[in-house]
Amino acid sequence: MPVTGAMRFLSGIQPSGTPHLGNYFGAIHQHVQASRSLGGGDSAFFFIADYHALTTTHDATKLRQQVRDVAATYVALGLDVEQAVLFRQSDVPEVTELTWLLASVTGMGLLERAHSYKDKVSNNIKPSVGLFTYPILMAADIVAYDSDVVPVGGDQVQHVEMAQDMVTHFNSTFSVEALKRPEWHLSPTPKVPGTDGQKMSKSYNNAIGIFVEGKEQKKQVNAIVTDSREPAEAKEPDSVNAYGVLSLFLTREERVEWEDRLRAGGVGYGDLKKALMEKMDARFGEARAVYRDLMTTPAGEERLEAILARGAARARPVAQATLWRCLEAVGMPNTRHRLQP
Ligand code: ADP
Ligand code: TRP
Repeated sequence: MPVTGAMRFLSGIQPSGTPHLGNYFGAIHQHVQASRSLGGGDSAFFFIADYHALTTTHDATKLRQQVRDVAATYVALGLDVEQAVLFRQSDVPEVTELTWLLASVTGMGLLERAHSYKDKVSNNIKPSVGLFTYPILMAADIVAYDSDVVPVGGDQVQHVEMAQDMVTHFNSTFSVEALKRPEWHLSPTPKVPGTDGQKMSKSYNNAIGIFVEGKEQKKQVNAIVTDSREPAEAKEPDSVNAYGVLSLFLTREERVEWEDRLRAGGVGYGDLKKALMEKMDARFGEARAVYRDLMTTPAGEERLEAILARGAARARPVAQATLWRCLEAVGMPNTRHRLQP
């Protein structure tokens, strides 16, 4: 579906580790572009899903650090925080109340079908109740902000479909139109390969960080698995792991050129890795310095906190309005304003 400025575009990002090139090409880059092209009017919302991260991260220092890391990454990469609304999920606690309202009308069967839950359990993550009800919290995130379009990677499509079911069910159970039905929008780069050729992921130990530099960058890029073919040998581009990562940085013309050279023979793996590091430096060099400052200085931390606080102040009234509509619908009229001291 074409995304236009008249719609609200919302996405959540879990703070679960330092963002890598898979996150960049699969999600962050599109978010940054959307923040610049959709225009103002609060049409793009991005939040750092710390309530969700709590289902797997039980270390306060680590969680705080990872939230800062995601915020710093988005700001350093140029998210337009004037146009887009960037906030921390837990700064809008109404979303947890909405989760309960949705949970009360959601069947166990729906949640039991969630692939992501089954995958996590099979990867030995201890299944808490929170992990099981994760899709309801995600649905609450989506509906709280009257979202029209939710850009996601393939693994999250089912969760948005579950949110659609919850919206239909809530509205029909209470005979209201309190919640808006969202649509998912699949990222145009569904799978960035990692150093081993599998999907890049921080859980597979095959990731290349966005902002790595110097020795660390060399180490991560050199970890890209190669075979014993000599530079002189002709190679099909698809069969070359390092090219899979490099090609993401290339323009159409550069791709044609590299692919012709690979097919002709004469390109070694070292050449591809060197070109990749140069492309990373050119694309992320300036952002790296901003990122470093945001991550390591008190002024950087203050700047991020101010951005997140402003984002929450813009997001919260939207979630409150949704919650109040829902409370009214279920028979819990919002009397809180009268209960305030
Ligand atoms: P990870 O697999 O490292 O834990 P997440 O699941 O936290 O990454 O993903 C965050 C975002 O980045 C999601 O939108 C996801 O679709 C996207 N993403 C993660 N890895 C990749 C990849 N290898 N290729 C494309 N997109 C990716
Ligand atoms: N579950 C998503 C992920 O792991 C993060 C997320 C939480 C999200 N709430 C959301 C994404 C709402 C889109 C909309 O990537």
